[in-house]
Amino acid sequence: MTVVALEGIRKVYKSGALEFEALKGISLEIRQGEMVALMGPSGSGKTTLMQIIGLLDRPTQGTYHLAGQDVTTLSENQRAEVRNQEIGFVFQAFHLLPRLNVLENVEVPMIYAGVPAEERRQRAMEVLQKVGLGDKWRNLPSQLSGGQKQRVAVARALSMRPSILLADEPTGNLDSKTAAEVMRLFQELNDEGTCVIVVTHEHDIADYCGRIVRIRDGQIEADGPNPGRKRAVGGLA
Ligand SMILES: Nc1ncnc2c1ncn2[C@@H]1O[C@H](COP(=O)(O)OP(=O)(O)OP(=O)(O)O)[C@@H](O)[C@H]1O
Ligand SMILES: [Mg+2]
Repeated sequence: MTVVALEGIRKVYKSGALEFEALKGISLEIRQGEMVALMGPSGSGKTTLMQIIGLLDRPTQGTYHLAGQDVTTLSENQRAEVRNQEIGFVFQAFHLLPRLNVLENVEVPMIYAGVPAEERRQRAMEVLQKVGLGDKWRNLPSQLSGGQKQRVAVARALSMRPSILLADEPTGNLDSKTAAEVMRLFQELNDEGTCVIVVTHEHDIADYCGRIVRIRDGQIEADGPNPGRKRAVGGLA
């Protein structure tokens, strides 16, 4: 099944009289079970594309089908609902809420989605165990390592059981060993069927993905399988 189908996507940013065309006609299909690296120079349009795929922003032109549904014509509320159901986000800067403990951070999207308290707690503990942090649920984010913080962010993204996980430079703030742990976790999730799209500058990180899409000046420059795909090894620290 095709999860993401983009056709002729253009994005023009307007500020006053200034216009900038950040995406110049992107067509891209991502199928269920794929793990894709999105690479390209700074300013090439990677984050812009991820925001469109993640329904955080709208294209200026073009069509987007998400899991078969045309999402370009939805209202803001409908888009927010689809986003909450289908998409999990992981960012470079973790974006955890500092006053909430680990368990509460993971519960946040489920609170928005109206999941009852008991089920929320149970699902949060489940995903925390999955990312190897079952014993840290009472900690505040400030009491975790960088890699652990990112795993909390991954658990939070997973709590809503998304069909796609979008990660924009998820390892940008991590040392290489910790980055490898996060990529191993993504591979595990991908093996279980979650579609994963990772923006990265680093070849080492892209190498964990089965497909590499390169973008330059708002256009796809190359797109193909990664024959040298790395399999992550080792346990979570
Ligand atoms: N809100 C905005 N208004 C105007 N221009 C923008 C806006 N957001 C991004 N741009 C421009 O669009 C282009 C693409 O930006 P984008 O953030 O998608 O790049 P990127 O590939 O993610 O870069 P990086 O690797 O540095 O994160 C850049 O030239 C940027 O200046
Ligand atoms: Mg970016």
